[in-house]
Amino acid sequence: MSSINLAVFVSGHGSNLEVFLQNKQQFQSLWVVSSNAEAHGLTRASNHGVESHVLPKNIDWQALHEALESRNIDKIFLAGFMKIVPASFVEKWHGRLFNLHPSLLPNYKGLRAIERAHADGEAVGVTIHHVVAAVDAGDIVLQDCAVSKEAVVNMDLEAVIERTHAKEHELVQAWIDQLH
Ligand code: GAR
Repeated sequence: MSSINLAVFVSGHGSNLEVFLQNKQQFQSLWVVSSNAEAHGLTRASNHGVESHVLPKNIDWQALHEALESRNIDKIFLAGFMKIVPASFVEKWHGRLFNLHPSLLPNYKGLRAIERAHADGEAVGVTIHHVVAAVDAGDIVLQDCAVSKEAVVNMDLEAVIERTHAKEHELVQAWIDQLH
């Protein structure tokens, strides 16, 4: 077990959150924060007996920062968190705030990254990176290809999305494993 108190921020399905939940014994504590009250990630957290918190529509980032501090959170992982994190918050968590993105950054920053790479016939992959104020920038921690440029042209989008999500789960597991 690591001595890390980790917060995982989600907005929806939470399949990557599930990898953290499956590994909850690896952490001193896990706390799930959701920007969406309907997120399936919240059900996943409750199924694992992990505490969660739903953010209000207008997020009070200072209050959130204080709540994280009061829980002695060491690191934050954005796992499908679809809100822009403001620079003031990013600065406070510099070096301790990570994001998962479904592309081989710096290619295909932003939304619908898999769809755009597939449409262009470009390699599709997954990146875990430090969060900085600019969107999907910041030093890369882990990165891996899910579908090569050669393979992508012969695959339909659904298959590429499925392969990419599987690769995300692998990379999240690798990130957890390297905490020790
Ligand atoms: C993942 O594909 C993640 O990379 C993406 O949202 C999905 C969440 O899936 N994040 C972004 O696009 C952030 N820019 P999940 O809810 O099943 O973990």
